Amino acid sequence: MRTRVGIIGAGPAGLLLSHLLHRQGIESVVLELRTREYVERRQRAGILEHGTVEVLRASGAGERMDRQGIPHQGVELRFDRRAHRIDLAAGTGGRSVMVYAQTEVVKDLIALREQADGQVLFEAEALSVDGADTASPSVRFRQAGAEQTLDCDVVVACDGFHGIGRRAVPDGVLTVSERTYPFAWLGILADVPPSCDELIYAHHARGFALHSMRSPQVSRLYLQVDPSDTTDNWPDARIWDELDARFETESGWTLGRGPVTEKSITPMRSFVAEPMRHGRLFLAGDAAHIVPPTGAKGLNLAVADVTLLARALSHWHTRQDETLLDAYSETALRRVWRAEHFSYTMTSLLHTDPAATAFDRRLQLSHLRYITSSDAASASLAENYAGLPVV
Ligand code: APR
Ligand code: PHB
Repeated sequence: MRTRVGIIGAGPAGLLLSHLLHRQGIESVVLELRTREYVERRQRAGILEHGTVEVLRASGAGERMDRQGIPHQGVELRFDRRAHRIDLAAGTGGRSVMVYAQTEVVKDLIALREQADGQVLFEAEALSVDGADTASPSVRFRQAGAEQTLDCDVVVACDGFHGIGRRAVPDGVLTVSERTYPFAWLGILADVPPSCDELIYAHHARGFALHSMRSPQVSRLYLQVDPSDTTDNWPDARIWDELDARFETESGWTLGRGPVTEKSITPMRSFVAEPMRHGRLFLAGDAAHIVPPTGAKGLNLAVADVTLLARALSHWHTRQDETLLDAYSETALRRVWRAEHFSYTMTSLLHTDPAATAFDRRLQLSHLRYITSSDAASASLAENYAGLPVV
């Protein structure tokens, strides 16, 4: 089998890259370990930055997003039993975010690739990348019990944090920067209309809580829990009681309850592997970097990476000019590190660290009060949250 661009992974990074390349007349093959049903059902984040919305729209992938997504002009920070609104649009010259689940973005992109007769091979497990530092790299993969080789001009690993792409880079080439956190998120989906119009990020002595949403009928809620905790310890009633305690306000705000349809615990991690390239092998999305979810940046970084990469590959393809490909890693990493810093800051600002001293807690509250009372500080949060321009 032969293609120009071999893509490992049909998450948002791999699918959008394949779609963008197709629009530039460049063919690709996407190899995906899981079934289509699995990929389309997987619950992930749901906030699209302003620039992500623009990229999807401009590429013809925004039609359902524009019908069903919910634009948000602000977010709430809740602490000291009070609500404080951060106006995203005012602080950023009108930029805002869209609430539209990652899983819906994935469905839309798979449908587009299908309509264009694009090759997305499901249940095709990439086993190794060979010849990354030659002019003809290849991916060995297994599908339906048979091993095959996909020969390519370039390989792009969009296979997430646990994929094989990053591991194909020889030892000593990548520099890894990493941080783990002493908390995890317990996330639920519930069949109940959201109790708010905008997202609520709540800081509380009992731990962080987040109220997000998927639609006018479905709420998405998160609780900070211990990383060693399991969902068995969290029957639905305990989750709702804990959410009530952490979201409580002095004005008597109430949280609507409904049937819980999904429940899972996700660890939190910051991770960057650089450079995001080795010869003809490129890394994009979670394969190269992870952020804790508090800044809602994971999906948006994946979109920014592949937007750069599609442009660079197109330049190379049409003009035999490798300048943009050579600049890819450095250009992408500038945004990655901005998002790493923002995600770390939001995480540290809002969570309750079991090891924090009284001094740390006072600093945290002072920072929250500053952000919610200074136009300059809240504009800075808004600028990072709504997202910097993609290129
Ligand atoms: N062969 C083929 N596919 C693989 C392999 C492999 N060996 N290993 C992993 N994959 C697939 C996974 O099954 C998954 O579908 O690669 C895909 C990676 O997709 P994501 O994890 O969604 O990563 P990415 O596309 O970079 O999306 C960015 O943003 O909200 C965050 O972490 C969240 O998924 C999100 C990410
Ligand atoms: C979500 O809706 O799943 C979500 C929203 C905001 C975040 C993280 C996750 O910061």
